[in-house]
Amino acid sequence: MDFFNYKGSDLYAEDVKLTEIAKQYNTPVYVYSKATLERHIAAFENSLKSKKHLVCFAVKSCSNLAVINLMAKLGTGFDVVSEGELRRVIAAGGDPHKVVFSGVGKTEHEIEYALSVGINCLNIESEEEIDTVIKVAKKLNVVAPVALRVNPGVDAKTHPYISTGLKNNKFGVSEEIAFDLYKRIAKEPCLKVSGIDCHIGSQMTSGLPIVEATDKILALYDKLKKEGINIDHINMGGGLGVTYYDETPPSPLEYFAPILERLKNEDVAIYIEPGRAMVANACVLLAKVVYQKNNGGKHFVITDTGMNDLIRPALYGSYMTIINTTKHEDGEEVVCDIVGPICESDDFLGKERKLNVKNGDILAVRGAGAYGSSMSSTYNTRRMPCEVMVDKDKTFEIRKRQTYEDIWKDESILN
Ligand code: LLP
Repeated sequence: MDFFNYKGSDLYAEDVKLTEIAKQYNTPVYVYSKATLERHIAAFENSLKSKKHLVCFAVKSCSNLAVINLMAKLGTGFDVVSEGELRRVIAAGGDPHKVVFSGVGKTEHEIEYALSVGINCLNIESEEEIDTVIKVAKKLNVVAPVALRVNPGVDAKTHPYISTGLKNNKFGVSEEIAFDLYKRIAKEPCLKVSGIDCHIGSQMTSGLPIVEATDKILALYDKLKKEGINIDHINMGGGLGVTYYDETPPSPLEYFAPILERLKNEDVAIYIEPGRAMVANACVLLAKVVYQKNNGGKHFVITDTGMNDLIRPALYGSYMTIINTTKHEDGEEVVCDIVGPICESDDFLGKERKLNVKNGDILAVRGAGAYGSSMSSTYNTRRMPCEVMVDKDKTFEIRKRQTYEDIWKDESILN
């Protein structure tokens, strides 16, 4: 069941007509469905219920406080990659004891902040980071819970920009040195070996790469156990893909079943860090059609949203489904490129699409919840988009549209 459906000729989010949202809040606007978010959270929780687990929502995929707060209330943990994300989680009512901190470049200051608020686990990504964590833990006189992010050399078979588990990626430490690093960590009184961490990539539409990675992580787990180094949790990261066009990713239940099977006799918790699959299809981005024109035989539909609001098509050539929130009885479909107002040739939302559109129509870009608003910017001095959450027949503005003064309020002129 989807919560973005046509009733008659109008597209709705739950019980609210999307054209009404566009009228009330203006465009561009990100519109989330609370019921869809709740359903996705439940699906992930349910998929791991046979084992002690922690679902850590990857905050980078969608960092709005209302989204984080909803997840926190339903008991999820979080995966953060910066002090800013950790502060967001706390500001939204999340529990730092359920937060894991990933990232290749954590600064000493960020590590200090994370340890001072009682982070669940620091996912260490290099030998030098171990030294920094030791220094900070000694300074604070605490025992730091840590995992090593191990790069298992597995091909996630996804876009090269979002593939992270190959030997030539900057992420994690290689399998070869992980064992020795764990021995070093185990000897440090101010460090506690908490887990083994791994994240091989994003938008994976097959369950095979993660199973291959799990086998490699389990081999390390066994080796550590024999050495007397006990692991509390195995973190298999995020990466489960979604349907943007015709992809058929497994459900969370199908995706994690072989992993749970492999862990069933082990006294170890499983952590996961889903981002995209939690939020992508719980949201649409609404944009208004401003103009249409024909250039050299190509039909362009020009909207009021662009790559500053949603950068995925420009950055990765991502396909995002675009539909009209109003189905017209008259007129006919034309093949068109749907573009934005930004002064860059890759400022497009979709290419060669068939749409029946009139000026003033509200288009909906589906699957916009993940890496949509969280990657938006003010490029071309455009205001960051407004965000709205729908709960049945009610709407809540969960992020006001910026004012222009907001954009330059921290700048100053030489006197
Ligand atoms: N854990 C770690 C350590 C990560 O780096 C990521 C994503 C996740 C979890 C969540 O992965 P997910 O479940 O969302 O696949 N901007 C790109 C995606 C970048 C992913 C970065 N890391 C896009 O729009 O496709």
